[in-house]
Amino acid sequence: MSAIWVEVDGVRVAAMSGQTVAGVLLGLGRTSWRSTRRDGRPRGVFCGIGVCFDCLVLVNGVPDVRACQRRVADGDVVRVQCGAELPGEC
Ligand code: FES
Repeated sequence: MSAIWVEVDGVRVAAMSGQTVAGVLLGLGRTSWRSTRRDGRPRGVFCGIGVCFDCLVLVNGVPDVRACQRRVADGDVVRVQCGAELPGEC
């Protein structure tokens, strides 16, 4: 593993290659990074194995990426999202 840099909600943070996006977020002390569309309730890692889709984030402008499955790469830009990100929302 080697040190890399990623951007999380506009802040540049250190990460390790091979780490998942969820691992980086949890390492930053974040327990939720998405809100539900209907009620705005907080969501983060639930299953941790790619089944529940609670951990969705935007990575490099691509919405609905499962943070527990996506491994970070140097220069990745991660942003929280609201529900399933749709144009004009959030
Ligand atoms: S935590 Fe369930 S899909 Fe990521």
